[in-house]
Amino acid sequence: MAKKTVALLFGGVSSEYEVSCLSVSSVFENVDREKYEPVLVGITKTGEWYLYGGEIEKVRAHEWDKDSENLKKAFICPDRTVHGLMVEGKNGWEELYVDVVYPVLHGKNGEDGTMQGLLEIAGIPYVGCKVLASAVCMDKEVCHSVLKGAGVPQVKWLTCFRGNVDYSEAEKAVETELGWPVFVKPANAGSSVGISMVKSPEKLKEAMELAFEHDVKIIIEEAVKNPIEVECAVLGNEELLVGGPGEIVPADEFYSYDAKYFNDESETFLKARIEDSVAEEIRETAKKAYKILGCSGLTRVDFLIDGESGKIVLNEPNTLPGFTNISMYPKLIMSTGMTYSELIDKLLELAQE
Ligand SMILES: Nc1ncnc2c1ncn2[C@@H]1O[C@H](COP(=O)(O)OP(=O)(O)O)[C@@H](O)[C@H]1O
Ligand SMILES: [Mg+2]
Repeated sequence: MAKKTVALLFGGVSSEYEVSCLSVSSVFENVDREKYEPVLVGITKTGEWYLYGGEIEKVRAHEWDKDSENLKKAFICPDRTVHGLMVEGKNGWEELYVDVVYPVLHGKNGEDGTMQGLLEIAGIPYVGCKVLASAVCMDKEVCHSVLKGAGVPQVKWLTCFRGNVDYSEAEKAVETELGWPVFVKPANAGSSVGISMVKSPEKLKEAMELAFEHDVKIIIEEAVKNPIEVECAVLGNEELLVGGPGEIVPADEFYSYDAKYFNDESETFLKARIEDSVAEEIRETAKKAYKILGCSGLTRVDFLIDGESGKIVLNEPNTLPGFTNISMYPKLIMSTGMTYSELIDKLLELAQE
């Protein structure tokens, strides 16, 4: 059988650029070379696209874009007769046929439906959720509304838009509808960027202004008390495999950017330290949410369990979760008996279904 070409998209105009560089390095090293020929397509922080032919270590260290000998200008061509990339060669632009695309991109401009839209136009199969599911899962306010409407337990929240914000109104609304502490978040972000935990009214404005730096829409959520944070890995299109729930114990007061990427005192457990019946309920809820949101391929579904009441809420789905071989999503799937390479193979297969 002839090998298929898989384009691995990485980097991107997103606050999670570096995480993507790590994720794609693991994916690249583990693609089944008997079946696939991987090509690396990097997007710089400023949005330039290149086909990269250099060492994978330079991608991992996010130094690939300085390796000019191994860079060729390239981009996904929206013209579907090309079914792939336009690459700048010595004699001008050439077409490169691609069978399937794996967007190993996190956050804005990659996980939010925008790249998925381009790939739909280009007519190329791709790994992961389609346009609508990607966009809905990215927007915390829309996602809360959709899931609440379908009866999936959510925290209570308030929504605010930038411009003419009445901060004392917001404070009153928190007092009557949520109570302190609260979490203030940009509606569209990731990696905890722009998120604050606010314990008292005088800190609310500052937190809202910070969140508004990242989005015109923000949400204020009631805080889950002494939360147990657990995550499920869901894999599939129609028939679903669920790994986990695994547990996260952040080194910080909450799972902040620092606790996620820099503080190695944050702990993870592949099997959450909760009762089996609760774990089962969480797996079922994860599957239900996956269907409601219209997910396909993969999604990591994150939950918070109230340490006092035991009540479960779905915190957020992540349609393109961190994907290094030590990231939670792959580890949870691997805990069901699949290898990391088999997982990538399965995702590429699901994309082409
Ligand atoms: N309502 C909440 N109650 C308690 N902790 C929360 C709440 N919302 C968020 N957190 C904490 O903040 C972290 C980041 O919030 P999250 O909504 O997952 O944003 P991101 O999309 O950036 O990961 C969570 O992992 C959790 O530790
Ligand atoms: Mg999160």
